[in-house]
Amino acid sequence: MGLEQVMIETEVQVKPEKKTVEPVESRVVIQLEHIHKIYQTGDIEVHALRGVSLNVHEGEFVAIMGTSGSGKSTMMNIIGCLDRPTRGRYILDGEDVSELSKDDRADIRNKRIGFVFQGFNLLSRTSALENCELPMIYAGIPAHERTERAMEALHSVGLQGREYNHPNQLSGGQQQRVAVARALVNRPSIILADEPTGNLDSRTSVEVMEIFQRLNREKKMTIVVVTHEPDIAQYSKRVVVFKDGKIKRDYQVQDRLDAREQLEAMAAQPQEEDDDDE
Ligand SMILES: Nc1ncnc2c1ncn2[C@@H]1O[C@H](COP(=O)(O)OP(=O)(O)OP(=O)(O)O)[C@@H](O)[C@H]1O
Ligand SMILES: [Mg+2]
Repeated sequence: MGLEQVMIETEVQVKPEKKTVEPVESRVVIQLEHIHKIYQTGDIEVHALRGVSLNVHEGEFVAIMGTSGSGKSTMMNIIGCLDRPTRGRYILDGEDVSELSKDDRADIRNKRIGFVFQGFNLLSRTSALENCELPMIYAGIPAHERTERAMEALHSVGLQGREYNHPNQLSGGQQQRVAVARALVNRPSIILADEPTGNLDSRTSVEVMEIFQRLNREKKMTIVVVTHEPDIAQYSKRVVVFKDGKIKRDYQVQDRLDAREQLEAMAAQPQEEDDDDE
């Protein structure tokens, strides 16, 4: 108990904080009500979520934090309609999706949600462009429009000129930007990212946060990002901390960081810090 407590206290250093004040003017897009998730593997039951209730409004930018095994990915998978709660209700954009079949969930996911994972999850033998076109094939978008939209998405994340590169010809940061572009092509209103910067160095992480902040600001996209890093959470507007399958804290970020400003400041400085990850 002692060690775990210390880990949690040291992990959560996004400061200063105050009580959650939700923006009143916008509508709720993600509504979790008393969500429980129990995984059953053989005789063993794991109670991964223990009564999670959470409202996320349109245009919010939420960072999910908490120790390993606290239920963050489980909740993201439910929000992203990749999985269903064992108990409780999930209302997405006003529609109860807790009981939907796998196919219906896939449909909703494809239209409304863009998912970005830590490991990028790109197809290795296809180009950046083709990777971005894939979700649109499932969505039944005609070929010429697929290419047009994929190009546009790749350009919006700064990857013009890289459209025909395969993932192994791109850096980690560029691969993650392809994954972000791919998440955007079906024009979702929600972006979910599970440790999107977990495999990236600090500068590249800020580049990814810059894209998220831009999408949040300019397109009013709702963004939910899981991160272990307090520095990364400082780019969000609100932090939700998990512990043992429950929400332990929920607060608005004060002194939020602006990723573009941070990148400009980094560019003005000689780069030494980032050289150590080569
Ligand atoms: N598919 C599964 N089958 C059985 N147990 C699972 C499954 N997925 C997750 N769990 C268990 O549920 C609990 C919560 O896991 P989850 O992946 O949500 O944690 P997390 O907060 O995302 O952790 P991390 O920071 O390590 O990614 C853990 O005890 C985990 O072992
Ligand atoms: Mg996880």
